[in-house]
Amino acid sequence: MNIIGLNDVAGSHHNSSVALVRDGEIVFAASEERYTRVKYEMGFPHQALRSALHYSGLTPDQVDYWAVGYPPSGFYADLFCRSLWDLPRSLTGLMGHNFSGLLKYLAPNVFKMYKPAVFRNGLHPLGVPDEKIVFLDHHRTHAASAYRCSGFDEALTISMDGFGPNATGKNIAGEIYLCRDGEMTLVEEIPFYATALWYSAFTVCLGLRYMDGEGKTMGLAAYGDPDVCYTLIKDMVFEHTDGRWKGYPYWVDYIMVPRDTVLMKTHSGRRIMQLIKTYGKEHVAAAAQRLLEERILGFVESLHQRFAFRNVALAGGTFLNVKVNKLIRELPYIDQVFVHPHASDGGTAVGAALELYHQKNGRRPDFKLQDADLGDAFTDDQILAELKICDQVVWEDLGERMPEYVASALTQGKVIGWFQGREEWGPRALGRRSVLADPRSAQTRDIINHQMKNREWFMPFAPSCLEEYGSLYFKDFCSSPFMTMAFDVIAGKENEIAAAIHVDNTARVHSVRPNNEPYYRVIKKFYELTGVPVILNTSFNRHGLPIVHHPKEAIDHLLWGCVHELAIGRFVVRRRDGSCPDRCGRQRAVIKPAE
Ligand SMILES: [Fe+2]
Repeated sequence: MNIIGLNDVAGSHHNSSVALVRDGEIVFAASEERYTRVKYEMGFPHQALRSALHYSGLTPDQVDYWAVGYPPSGFYADLFCRSLWDLPRSLTGLMGHNFSGLLKYLAPNVFKMYKPAVFRNGLHPLGVPDEKIVFLDHHRTHAASAYRCSGFDEALTISMDGFGPNATGKNIAGEIYLCRDGEMTLVEEIPFYATALWYSAFTVCLGLRYMDGEGKTMGLAAYGDPDVCYTLIKDMVFEHTDGRWKGYPYWVDYIMVPRDTVLMKTHSGRRIMQLIKTYGKEHVAAAAQRLLEERILGFVESLHQRFAFRNVALAGGTFLNVKVNKLIRELPYIDQVFVHPHASDGGTAVGAALELYHQKNGRRPDFKLQDADLGDAFTDDQILAELKICDQVVWEDLGERMPEYVASALTQGKVIGWFQGREEWGPRALGRRSVLADPRSAQTRDIINHQMKNREWFMPFAPSCLEEYGSLYFKDFCSSPFMTMAFDVIAGKENEIAAAIHVDNTARVHSVRPNNEPYYRVIKKFYELTGVPVILNTSFNRHGLPIVHHPKEAIDHLLWGCVHELAIGRFVVRRRDGSCPDRCGRQRAVIKPAE
């Protein structure tokens, strides 16, 4: 049975993605942003879908079902769900501050209520009949992406994000499932007014981008003192006490988060901006991070009192926060935590397809996600063709010697663009489309941050560590192949991996197993050369762009000076003039016209 999963059929939700599940196994998954080069792409995933069909050799009529993880819903119909006063309270707070901005923000969304996604169905032009399209509860598909990839028999599964529609189209902020032997039983919903968008609101007020900057808020938080602002903001977010969600009266303000100029003029936005002005960004970020951790942990604690679980599966944008995930895993009553590698809405493409497979077949796909290399790959011939039409590069065919060469180059201080095999599913570079460097000197971090990637100074890089040595470097280490968890670095090991840890001595670890070839061999050789089984790994993209998809984009990054050399397929590629600019340039690769 072939099932294609999509986030939504209209292409109006972020992280537009496609997954193909065949007989219960994921055979392809990709996000549209890799193809269109627009981060968090919202358009219908035409190109990712074309790739999925091409990879599988299927035509649209050979697909048995199309599973959709974002059913049509009335966007704002649920704003009154808690209190009739919530909406007018927020809106009257905005009237005098940014009335025109408010109208510009609301108008397109009100329009969506009257012309919902189903009428802009991108599948209809492909000839897909309505009876093959199945809409699923958004949070159930998040939960399925976690539980059905976890390999757990029994688990409590939490979906939590900004908001999304349940099976009846009502917007909610999450769902809790008790899972056993493949059956997922919904035990409760997290109401819309408990939205985690408050963390995004703080992010936007800190001058960062919605959906992009939340990880940066977490990064900045490590530089601040949470006690400075904690008591001043703790009433501004949801809380779960005595078995009930307690909302914040102005929670509707946070719905404005996609439009920063509107958000900042809300009651809550003005309050956050004043705090930032008075106390500084890092202290506000630190307080927000502590509150997120406390509130999520408090909720997990209350769930445990009721359901006594030992394994947890997590998905939804909230669980992109690796510090929160770390604290959940460290709870004494938790054995294992699994976070889907594409925890935000893109992951619902996989979740929808796996869930529908289960519903249609009435049995559990015995499936555990082992690797995230689920996207497109390019042959050496395709790569060579791209190299041949670019005047500005020279290359060398290293064949099987590539891992040894790259390990040696890293020890010489080179920053390498690594492009091998099928691309990763999700936002993290996991040894297929990565930028690699020697982690031993903190200076490496500064070079990449300031000169190669133009990133914020406070953002850390991640370590890729041979899994068998993980416990020598990281406290309470466990397998972390999808880089969804932070770990404390063991005292005394900081200097060995100084460039790949954060200021608070934590690291978002990518543990590498022998199935991740040829990446595993690079680290193994680096270990032989240096005695350190860890290399620095960051995503292969210039700041603000999606991770590279096509070889020509990898070549562009070499020419822009983002890396010293490019290790792509069997070729090591260098700039013809041998130079490497100090900062990322803006010029495009010079491409010869086709003969
Ligand atoms: Fe979601």
